[in-house]
Amino acid sequence: MNQPTESATSRLREEHQLILQVADAMQALVAEADAGNWDFEAFDQCVTFIRLFADACHHGKEEDLLFPELEKAGMSRQQGPIAVMLEEHRIGREYVRFMVEALEPARAGDEEARARLRNAANGYVELIRSHIMKEDQVLFNMADHVVRGSSCQSLCVAYGAVCARRFEGHSKEELASLAETISQRAGLA
Ligand SMILES: [Fe+2]
Repeated sequence: MNQPTESATSRLREEHQLILQVADAMQALVAEADAGNWDFEAFDQCVTFIRLFADACHHGKEEDLLFPELEKAGMSRQQGPIAVMLEEHRIGREYVRFMVEALEPARAGDEEARARLRNAANGYVELIRSHIMKEDQVLFNMADHVVRGSSCQSLCVAYGAVCARRFEGHSKEELASLAETISQRAGLA
């Protein structure tokens, strides 16, 4: 039997790897900050990457394309794995909002804002790692079983259209190279 070149989740699983790479960089940036070496520019770049790549481009495809496809296959959006994933996306957005609010005062030397910034960054890293593990190991395996054939093909075409968009003026490729820049600044590339 021929294996399809792209499953309902292969592109999303690939994007997870880039998001995890930035999570590793954020963890390193927090460790440096705790040692007194703040790189606010890098935290700012993390916020941009998370907002535009992890949330708009990646979670956007899950929420607007994959999850509705799973609902068509009988899964509930109100409870079970999809509901848990949606709730975790919401919590992730909260962490990002905390980071955005803390960045400028933290940069200006406000110690309390610095604590909020590092705690939110840390919280995001923990959340996104366990979130991605759940998707990769549970929800996406279910999706690969139920979304096949022509519905899988149209889903992948729709993914392609989202990936070709610009996110506040940035292409997906530019955001991927931002992830590399962040890793380098964090000393991981
Ligand atoms: Fe995801």
